[in-house]
Amino acid sequence: MKNKSIGIIGLGTEVPKKTLSNYDLEKIVETSDEWIKSRSGISSRHIIGEDENVSDIAAAAGLKAVANAGLEPDDIDMIIMTTGSPELIWPSTACLAQAKMGMKNQPAFDLQAACSGFSYGLSMARQLMAADEYRHILLIGAEAMTRFLDWSDRSTCVLFGDAAAAAVIGPVDEGYGLLADYMGADGRGAGMLKIPVGGSGMSCSRAAPASAQKIVMNGREVFKFAVRIIPECVQTVIAKAGLKLDEIDFLIPHQANTRITEKAIEKLGLAKEKGVNNIENYGNTGAASIPLALAEAYASGRFKQGDIIVLVAFGAGLTWGANVIRWSLGS
Ligand code: UT7
Repeated sequence: MKNKSIGIIGLGTEVPKKTLSNYDLEKIVETSDEWIKSRSGISSRHIIGEDENVSDIAAAAGLKAVANAGLEPDDIDMIIMTTGSPELIWPSTACLAQAKMGMKNQPAFDLQAACSGFSYGLSMARQLMAADEYRHILLIGAEAMTRFLDWSDRSTCVLFGDAAAAAVIGPVDEGYGLLADYMGADGRGAGMLKIPVGGSGMSCSRAAPASAQKIVMNGREVFKFAVRIIPECVQTVIAKAGLKLDEIDFLIPHQANTRITEKAIEKLGLAKEKGVNNIENYGNTGAASIPLALAEAYASGRFKQGDIIVLVAFGAGLTWGANVIRWSLGS
């Protein structure tokens, strides 16, 4: 790694106002608060409003992150949007949000790695900035996942929620910031978690059942994959950073299921308190879940300068990724 330190210098979040509790879901499908809470850890989630879109919450989160970094929109040299629920196939949600943030001219694009998108985005931002081309990159994870839910499928509709969270990546004091990253994918698992309709393979204009236009998932297989891949990612990225597992202060996994997080932490032999978990109030918010958990923990004053924070993601693709940060942002 070059002798130039790059890290997160600002964070911002935006969640839709409308919420849907487990009790509300009991009225829609055959489920119970007890089942959802005990099997996933979720109590409630936010749902995007009829009059808003993913680029709206993305733009709001993005502007908050820019302000939190003490910057102006004009200071942003690149926008990377990561979403599994883009507003359109194209143009990118990055460009839609760019206009809503009052920005122009900087490159803006969507990065598709499903729930691993934020982790992938951090790795890419670090590498682009190390090449000295860009000084401030705005990375946004944003989802309107609930627009792709089959509200009659209890195995999926209880799990997801909508949110946006953003980070400004920029120069930090030497030795702080992004220490190492790791990314991977295995397309043989593409069928485990997907939205079958809407792309060119089966466009909406072709005859397709309504249920195919929604998220389909083999929950048990994804669960097994997650419990295996999280410890592998953490061990790999920590070794790349030249650190040991017991030097980790906080582990922020993709928020998909509390049981996944707990099993992975147990496998790694980490203390339970090191796991950051906020799924209870948001559900699985895809590419937004890691930055949302990070921003919330930061805002609550949980981190101190120098803490070693590991982010670890997994998602459709199948994809996975992890990042090690030596925390530099003051509380
Ligand atoms: O971003 C990554 C995306 N996804 C994930 O990470 C998901 C990973 N997987 C999971 O989190 C879990 O597999 C689930 C939460 C999806 C399911 O938990 P599980 O303990 O694996 O349950 P299961 O699929 O084995 O189902 C157990 C039972 C079934 O009934 P039978 O066949 O035993 O009679 C399901 O029909 O629970 C039933 N069930 C429900 N019951 C009440 C499934 N969904 C519900 C529900 N309410 N919402």
